[in-house]
Amino acid sequence: MTGHVLIIDYGSQVTQLIARKTRALGYYAEILPAGLPVEGPLAQKPGALILSGGPASVDEPGAPALDPGLLEAGIPVLGICYGMQLLAKALGGRLTREAHGEYGPAELTATGESPLWKSLNGSSSLRVWMSHGDRVETPPPGFAVTGRTPDLPVAAMEDRERLIFGLQFHPEVHHTEKGTELLKAFLEVAGLPDGWKMSSFARDAVESIRETVGPDGKVLCGLSGGVDSTVCAALLARAIGPRLHCVFVDNGLLRLDEAEEVSSSFRKLYPDLDLTVADAGDEFLAKLEGVSDPEKKRLAIGHTFIDVFKREARKLGKLDFLAQGTLYPDVIESISPQGPSALIKSHHNVGGLPAELGFTLIEPLKFLFKDEVRELGAELGVPDELLWRHPFPGPGLAIRIIGPVDRESLALLRKADAVVREELRTFGLDRSVWQAFAVLLNVRSVGVMGDGRSYGRAVAVRAVTSVDAMTADWARLPDDLLARFSSRIINEVQGINRVLYDISPKPPSTIEWE
Ligand code: XMP
Repeated sequence: MTGHVLIIDYGSQVTQLIARKTRALGYYAEILPAGLPVEGPLAQKPGALILSGGPASVDEPGAPALDPGLLEAGIPVLGICYGMQLLAKALGGRLTREAHGEYGPAELTATGESPLWKSLNGSSSLRVWMSHGDRVETPPPGFAVTGRTPDLPVAAMEDRERLIFGLQFHPEVHHTEKGTELLKAFLEVAGLPDGWKMSSFARDAVESIRETVGPDGKVLCGLSGGVDSTVCAALLARAIGPRLHCVFVDNGLLRLDEAEEVSSSFRKLYPDLDLTVADAGDEFLAKLEGVSDPEKKRLAIGHTFIDVFKREARKLGKLDFLAQGTLYPDVIESISPQGPSALIKSHHNVGGLPAELGFTLIEPLKFLFKDEVRELGAELGVPDELLWRHPFPGPGLAIRIIGPVDRESLALLRKADAVVREELRTFGLDRSVWQAFAVLLNVRSVGVMGDGRSYGRAVAVRAVTSVDAMTADWARLPDDLLARFSSRIINEVQGINRVLYDISPKPPSTIEWE
């Protein structure tokens, strides 16, 4: 990869947005946390550098510094907020610390010609979003001031000859007017080749997997039926075909017909694929017997999963690599801007297995965001019904049954959950809702059914909107749909006589109940 955008992350909450916007514009971007060595990433010959914002003050002890190697590389640079202040400090400008920072919207006035103002079409003002505590008082020698706000004498600066730009505001956030166009103008003036597409990513990833795995290497991939592991397996299937071995653990805690749906979709999609379905439902249920505490359930399931997976892996004989569908946000969030203090977190169910089983880990999606993974899946021909599945937790239905998990509860919940998902699809809302499911409560209530008294269990329906599952809101579903949930569940699932709708946002609640 050459001619891409290298983003140095100084700890801003919105650094990922720079990468997403840049990629959406057709320019491949990677993020390097500040403090990590820059030689390797520079040797890949990026065509432009973007220095992100960050929470620190450039002069405070321990604040992340600008690696001099970045400026010596002689490539075009855009410094955003903290990134602009780092540029000012490194190149001889003057900074001051403000008593009160500036946060929120501000009116920017373009005070000079700049290739970045191309999208202003002659207008000289722009509503931008600020979030900073320090300010550049005097730009470095050779820099022209190209924008100011009522509070800031230097809101934009540039050295046109060396193609070094600084913006005190954040062009990457939604609230900055024409922010995407400003980023695009910078990438154009940097002379970067655009046209990065998912098809180029797929081609490069396939080549790189072949190179890593070699002509004889064999890869094990745990399939969960979720988007990430599905796309990961699809990519590997394209790269190494029959040398990929997939294991799908049916833990008996899956949704209605799920094990069958996932395995038959995969077999249809990749007839040559070596897919083992480990039928381990009894083993999981035995470990869960009488367990009500949510954390104990999770632990029991996690440990059993590892036991089953290890056993299946051993049956397959010697395998060299383990593939995981780790995504970019997981990678970025696990490395602090101060340096590689934390390694990639083992957030997957199989975390911790590679070393023990002597595997080398491959994570082909680790530079992608969730929406990009779906795009890649589509590029690889993975059908929509697999790509657009709602996220489903590793511990499965066990954490949607309040109280102990047994076969009877699982059967009730499966039926209720199937109704929720089916009706959501019928109303055409399954893509706009992040997740929708049923939760079986350990509450009984009195009802009247036919002419008799019922004393049945209650189900809560949870449907949320979200972009990344970090925060979520309850979905405002149409009354008619809520009515369908209630009438169908009560009529079709014997043993349930009450349906509730969960109206709690995250935070303070979480998406799952346990
Ligand atoms: P919470 O309940 O923490 O869930 O708001 C956030 C998202 O993560 C999913 N989730 C899990 N996924 N293993 C997983 O693979 C787990 O143990 C797990 N717990 C929660 C949840 O469905 C939601 O999308």
